[in-house]
Amino acid sequence: MADSIIVTGGAGYIGSHTVVELLAEGYKPVIVDNFCNSEKSVLNGLKKITGKEITLYEGDCTNKSFMQRVFEETNPKGVIHFAAYKAVGESVEKPLEYYHNNLVSLLVLLEVMKEHTCNTLVFSSSCTVYGNPDELPVTEETPTQKAVSPYGNTKQISEDIIHDTVATKTGLGAVSLRYFNPIGAHPSSLIGELPIGVPNNLVPFVTQTAAGWREQLTVFGNDYNTPDGSNIRDYIHVVDLAKAHVKTLKYLESKSSFYDAINVGTGKGTSVLEVVTSFEKITGQKLNYKIGPRRSGDVEQIYASVDKSKQVLNWETELTVEDALRDAWNWQQTLPKAN
Ligand code: NAD
Ligand code: UFG
Repeated sequence: MADSIIVTGGAGYIGSHTVVELLAEGYKPVIVDNFCNSEKSVLNGLKKITGKEITLYEGDCTNKSFMQRVFEETNPKGVIHFAAYKAVGESVEKPLEYYHNNLVSLLVLLEVMKEHTCNTLVFSSSCTVYGNPDELPVTEETPTQKAVSPYGNTKQISEDIIHDTVATKTGLGAVSLRYFNPIGAHPSSLIGELPIGVPNNLVPFVTQTAAGWREQLTVFGNDYNTPDGSNIRDYIHVVDLAKAHVKTLKYLESKSSFYDAINVGTGKGTSVLEVVTSFEKITGQKLNYKIGPRRSGDVEQIYASVDKSKQVLNWETELTVEDALRDAWNWQQTLPKAN
């Protein structure tokens, strides 16, 4: 029988793409989601892509008795923990909500995993833990820096909580995947990112501008110390990122009382202006954009060293930024104009 894997936040952007890859590799994903930042229609997309009915538990990961019931009924082999609030700016306005949701959900999960001797955990971390790095590309040994937002701090604290739990040597094997910038959508255009309201992130803003939902994109600064003056990021196709989770589960199969953090990126930096130019070239859409002031809190440039993910996970990206921009645009065109 297929191993059950609990996917908290499995109806969300990265979680839903990971559910597809889990099924493709013979696992039985069990989605646990309260739909605070996703739509139930995602389940229809998943069914169309995979041809399978996916088990869903609707509820809140911070609710221990609910999580105990999920574990009792599904007896999972492992957990991929995506469920969290993720908007950096909002976390500054609502720190308590962010600390509560992101930390309590992890604590409850670890307690229930221990009760059920479920010893495999893949955790969604972020390259924000590196802050403004002194050296590029950033390796996993690059020192982490004090987080600039409550959101970033929840990722650092979460990594510490998992590290300290593993150190008790009760068998838990865990990896924090430090994502760089996930973009794109499933090539079927049946699932993708569903930003609520005005997007903060670059690529949804680009596609919504091209679709006429937004009047103009503002490029936040062209006076950075980079070749074209705009910020540089490591944009990774969400399908590649999803596959990294499955590789990590397999890697953890042979691990006990083990913790590590691994970068998940392409290793290649792309500037904001390069994203704009590539998008125009691939889609044939002229993008209305202007150069504006810097956005506070943005790091100048960051991209991943991918040596460790290649070496230990035997994983590397297969898709390009161009693939991701094409898929993001195709997905955008399926969306009804909502806001
Ligand atoms: P998302 O908001 O699309 O998905 C998160 C899902 O978790 C949503 O479906 C939401 O309804 C659910 N959720 C949140 N809190 C919950 C709770 N208490 N109980 C049950 N369900 C809950 O976000 P995403 O982009 O898919 O991100 C997934 C994870 O990856 C998050 O932990 C995020 O912090 C992390 N991450 C995301 C990015 C990014 O740029 N998207 C980058 C780095 C790290
Ligand atoms: N940008 C613009 N205009 C916009 C939006 C973004 O120029 O309208 C620029 C930003 O200044 C930045 C780049 O596009 O240089 C990327 O910005 P995003 O907001 O898309 O992504 P960030 O790198 O700021 O952060 C994202 C997520 C975080 C996550 C981080 C690392 O928002 O949650 O990636 O994974 F932690």
